[in-house]
Amino acid sequence: MIVLANDHGGLILKQPLIEVLNEMDIPFRDIGTNSTESTDYPLWGYKAAQLVASGECERGIVMCGTGIGISLSANKIKGIRCVVCTDCYSAKLSRAHNDTNMLALGGRVVGPDLAKMIVQIWLETPFDGGERHARRVKMIMDIERDQML
Ligand code: RB5
Repeated sequence: MIVLANDHGGLILKQPLIEVLNEMDIPFRDIGTNSTESTDYPLWGYKAAQLVASGECERGIVMCGTGIGISLSANKIKGIRCVVCTDCYSAKLSRAHNDTNMLALGGRVVGPDLAKMIVQIWLETPFDGGERHARRVKMIMDIERDQML
């Protein structure tokens, strides 16, 4: 289950992303907003991140104007590794090397077709799982727990 959340600036990407998820036969939960009225992105980043951190949703895709504010908000929640992507290479490597569990996109930065490609690649790419990358991801999580030696 993928959680989708966005502010007014990210709303433009929602329908294209729903198309990709449907094409890939991946279930999703859209928690809003579905309005163009101005709203605060931290709220949406927080709500989506909570669902991922709790295990209720496997991964999350969040959208705001740039992808920046909503990703910063999501990354404040323990267990979240949220990446802002504007290109397919970063989307792929963020999964393979960093095991990201959330993706952020900017509705005022990437067009719908590029956003769809980024999402497809991000969803299809598994974590590499090799010792080197696993060690580094663990180090990130150790920082979060203040247990970095
Ligand atoms: C809202 O205008 C805008 O600031 C927001 O969508 C996002 O881009 C913030 O990082």
